[in-house]
Amino acid sequence: MAEVRVELAGRSYDVRIGGGLIGNFAEECGGLLRKTRVPIVTDRNVYAHWGEALAQSLEAAGKHPAWLVHEPGEGAKSWDGLSRTVEWLLGEEVERGDHIVALGGGVIGDLTGFAASMLKRGCGFIQVPTSLLAQVDSSVGGKTAINVAAGKNLVGAFHQPSLVLADTDVLSTLPEREMRCGYAEVIKYGILGDAAFFEWCEANGSRVIAHDREAVEYAVTESVQAKARIVAEDERETSGARALLNLGHTFGHALEAETGYSDRLLHGEAVALGMVLAARYSARKGHLSAEDAERIAEAIGASRLPVEIASLGLHCTGQALAAHMLHDKKMDAGTLPFILLRGIGDAFLDREVSLEDVGAFLAQQLQSA
Ligand code: NAD
Ligand code: GLY
Repeated sequence: MAEVRVELAGRSYDVRIGGGLIGNFAEECGGLLRKTRVPIVTDRNVYAHWGEALAQSLEAAGKHPAWLVHEPGEGAKSWDGLSRTVEWLLGEEVERGDHIVALGGGVIGDLTGFAASMLKRGCGFIQVPTSLLAQVDSSVGGKTAINVAAGKNLVGAFHQPSLVLADTDVLSTLPEREMRCGYAEVIKYGILGDAAFFEWCEANGSRVIAHDREAVEYAVTESVQAKARIVAEDERETSGARALLNLGHTFGHALEAETGYSDRLLHGEAVALGMVLAARYSARKGHLSAEDAERIAEAIGASRLPVEIASLGLHCTGQALAAHMLHDKKMDAGTLPFILLRGIGDAFLDREVSLEDVGAFLAQQLQSA
């Protein structure tokens, strides 16, 4: 098992990574579980696969789980999902000093964390991320949110968990497409800040996706270490350091908006293609060599993640795609900060990008096969 500490003044916490953590859940949580009854928020898929294992481990320690089971999917990250969660927690008489357990992917983690941030003006929560994406990204760093009519993740709070238990065994039941999506966020850490880890991904990405135990643990630990460093430096995304984690996300959001946030293109797939576009756009601007941009595309394509917009069969112009970016929540005083690359492992924030130029670039990409 590996342990990574997220260092934040007064709110530091551990991320434990390895197999068997759910089977040892009560011991891992120690004094965080003050009462006999333990409130757990999850979704139907995760409950079906892992609910019993978590319940058994709690019962063995003399505790009893209380379950709130949402329907799987982004729909739970909504005003309805939030009010259902908060009302249920109130019914469970959760107090400010208690901890709520979020057992699930990024949807359940974001929703439960947001509910915890407001319940009794803020109570504790424990992240038990069950998707690869949640283990390497969303469970660490304290961003919580729901989606509203105006867009994704537009209403939320920074609220750090007290503990993250990333049990890598639970990934055994994760659908392969979701595993690939999570892998996009893994390789992202290499591309944005760690050339040696990128090389490791080039050589070992297929082992991660195939659930090789050692490779998965290494990938999750490296990713969490990278995220913990960035979050410790810039918890609230004010200095620019945390913004680097948005590599690929601005292009990706435009593609998600154009495909209607649907199964046509999942978030991790949009980020994967978005990173390739960010690399190629960096090359167009003369920041990155064309060879490095194509090396990134090859590494991502080798994991059977999308690398060409043309493959999506979109019927829109480059300017229309760029126009989606105007609604990006990172818009700041009329400009949109882009994360670009000077090299593999060397991302930077560029506030001088013209959306018209991005539109022209996307028009070219839409045409090239
Ligand atoms: P998700 O939570 O919808 O999970 C994906 C699917 O996998 C769901 O159908 C879920 O039921 C299923 N699943 C999860 N774990 C499983 C398991 N072990 N076995 C079988 N099925 C399992 O999606 P996600 O990709 O985990 O997270 C995406 C969400 O995370 C988005 O809402 C995104 O906005 C958010 N996010 C947040 C942050 C952050 O910093 N807070 C960062 C990145 C993404
Ligand atoms: N996923 C981006 C962040 O946590 O900042």
